[in-house]
Amino acid sequence: MSNTSPRIRKAVIPAAGYGTRLRPLTNIAPKELLPLGGKPAAQFIVEELHAIGIEDIILVVSPHKIGIQEYFGHAACGGDVRISYVYQETQKGLADAILRAEDAVEGEEFLVALGDSVITRAEGRELPTKRLIDAYESNSADAAIIVERVPLEDAHKYGMVAPIGEAKGAFEIRDLIEKPKPEVCPSNCAIAGRYIFRPEIFDWIRRTPPGFGGEHQITDSIKLSLQNGSRIWCVVLDDGENRYDIGSISTYCEAFTAMCMLDPQISPIVRRVVEEKAS
Ligand code: G1P
Repeated sequence: MSNTSPRIRKAVIPAAGYGTRLRPLTNIAPKELLPLGGKPAAQFIVEELHAIGIEDIILVVSPHKIGIQEYFGHAACGGDVRISYVYQETQKGLADAILRAEDAVEGEEFLVALGDSVITRAEGRELPTKRLIDAYESNSADAAIIVERVPLEDAHKYGMVAPIGEAKGAFEIRDLIEKPKPEVCPSNCAIAGRYIFRPEIFDWIRRTPPGFGGEHQITDSIKLSLQNGSRIWCVVLDDGENRYDIGSISTYCEAFTAMCMLDPQISPIVRRVVEEKAS
């Protein structure tokens, strides 16, 4: 397909986590390859990226985790998308995983799509990731992030942003914090697994000390760049747009069921079984 944004041609998918919270399922397959209805999770992500015109995908994988490279090989979406691999030897955090892709990004602006987050579009609307590119380009932002509204009691599970003004549509932020305590949580907008960066982010990552959990957090790298004058924009998911997380068994089950319900061939079966069991 033709590229809708000639500036953003590359995407990085961090997919090197061990998936410990999903054991024993992740003893048989990486979490990114667990099925969501009829397809592996990462297949949905690659198709999302293809739909917005990404031509090159760099998968950050663990050398200790087999399956992803075997599944995708070096091309996807009928050969329209090239796939390459870089390795994260040890789990040092999301910022470190993104840094592994520096050479492959070759000095270009790029998108990051977390390998354990699937985002769905609302019926009749364009993909949220396309709106992210539009907000990044039209506001000449230095970085852009998709966010979703979450209950404040769940804020400790996410990176949370502090909007300038109203958190509606696309908006600029003045701060962000990784997994805050409720008393310092700046809003109900949580970072939702899609980012756009300029290549300068790699320098900020190199200057990022270990943060939450002793890991190098990309939220902290973005905060460093913001404190040094970068302008960061967010796009918030609207009604009917959802992020599904394949991090724990409960969120995986939710993701699996939701993606089954979006598949016209599978949804009648799921609905029938649930109705039978509920009656
Ligand atoms: C990561 C990010 C966090 C973000 C979340 C969902 O956390 O560090 O800022 O809110 O993904 O996109 P993790 O789920 O890896 O703990």
